Amino acid sequence: MAAVRDRKSGSPDKEPIAVLGMGHVGLPTALGFAELGWQVLGADDAVDKIDQLKTGKATFYEPEMQDLLTKHLASGRFQPTKDVDAAIAAARVVFVCVGTPQREDGAADLSQIEAVARTIARNLNGYKLVVEKSTVPASTAERIKRTIERYARTEPSANGANGRSTRSAVKGAAPRFDVASNPEFLQEGKAIQNFFHPERIVIGVESDQARELLEAIYQPLKCPIVVTDLATSELIKHSANAFLSTKISFINMISDICDAVGADVSSVARGIGLDPRIGQQFLSAGIGFGGYCFPKDLKALIYLAEEHGVPSGILRAVEEVNLRRIEVLMEKLRHALWVLQGKKVAVLGLAFKPLTDDIRESPALRVVGELLKEGAVVRLYDPEAIPAAQQVYPEAAGRLDYFRSAYEAARGAHAVVITTEWEEFRRLNWKKVQESMEVPVLIDGRNILDPSAMRDAGFEYFSMGRGGRPAVLAASTK
Ligand code: UGA
Repeated sequence: MAAVRDRKSGSPDKEPIAVLGMGHVGLPTALGFAELGWQVLGADDAVDKIDQLKTGKATFYEPEMQDLLTKHLASGRFQPTKDVDAAIAAARVVFVCVGTPQREDGAADLSQIEAVARTIARNLNGYKLVVEKSTVPASTAERIKRTIERYARTEPSANGANGRSTRSAVKGAAPRFDVASNPEFLQEGKAIQNFFHPERIVIGVESDQARELLEAIYQPLKCPIVVTDLATSELIKHSANAFLSTKISFINMISDICDAVGADVSSVARGIGLDPRIGQQFLSAGIGFGGYCFPKDLKALIYLAEEHGVPSGILRAVEEVNLRRIEVLMEKLRHALWVLQGKKVAVLGLAFKPLTDDIRESPALRVVGELLKEGAVVRLYDPEAIPAAQQVYPEAAGRLDYFRSAYEAARGAHAVVITTEWEEFRRLNWKKVQESMEVPVLIDGRNILDPSAMRDAGFEYFSMGRGGRPAVLAASTK
């Protein structure tokens, strides 16, 4: 891949980029920059994480990431480090990718961002561009700026060379810096693909130098670059996630109406989605959205709106519809099995979506919780997320068991519930599954299987908003 060579705007050969925070955003981003030719310092104060990265083992599952990690540890272009100060001191461009978890009141917890701003302030040894990549409420960049200004004046400045932070107690005029906003739009499970093939890059900047540096970094990706002010750029990210969440809750609400009137939500989604003003994507009905982004970002945007006196009714409704999805699925299960106490239920899928081992805010885990509450015996399987799920729900033999395959989990079960849309589940030999079950009830919480094929295989099949589709019409809607 072509590297950036513009000396005025930075050179991958000479200058390292620092990426602070080696989580789901920071690590793919750091490896992406390394692949573009930059020398990348991937810094995190979580010692375990850095130690593991140094051994060459990715800290979480993400397609293509392990290969990139191996490649750029070997090329020397990716250097994991615990020394956050030194990474900042060595770089001109510093990407902030630390976590912004949710506080109890729904607002984003920005304590890690604040701490990083202070660390940057004490390592301000020359011009730096501080790029906020984590998802944050509008006006956070402004606060980062003020924090750096304040602490750069009051804390000892770093004047180390070659990346070593040798702090002196000399106070004086702090070097110039810029803060920029450059929200990430990476989807877990596609993060590497998304990095190299973005639909757009958004940059919020306040100076030509900041814009030029970021344009030079992203120019090889050849996609539209939207240049805005800081707050607009921050709000673009929250609006994008809120809009996508709204699409999902909208189609889920329609799916309940479909169930009520005997219509088919997949066809409704296709019928409306072919209108380019609506679009086909993010109209898959099911058990709702989870993960570390949508639920938390929605709450943070609601908080931000209400803080400014802006009614947030639409966003609250999106959240309410999403929370009700598990109950809709449980109602279907109760309808099929009547009493759940003592019934063996196989849950296929624990990750919040396919191609990741991430279970944060996973709707699948909420299903497991409901099943346990009702006294069901749960039999769990996921291609990637079992180790993570075991941390939340430890094995309890005969009550909660993990299995090595979907077939094993389904054997002897009274019902199978599909909670994550893994491709592997589409390809199962469902006849074989049906024959191994005690009672052949199949609840497809993600609408991944063909209803008539499943009924032909002998299942009592239920899905989300497709119950009423007469088999004879199914073919003509494809
Ligand atoms: C989301 C956004 O899609 C990314 O653009 C953004 O960068 C990221 O959040 C972030 O803010 O960091 P992600 O959380 O990885 O990405 O996952 P998505 O693919 O968006 O899926 C989120 C949830 O929605 C999953 O639980 C998925 O199963 C669910 N979903 C998605 C549906 O229920 N229906 C759909 O049609 C699509």
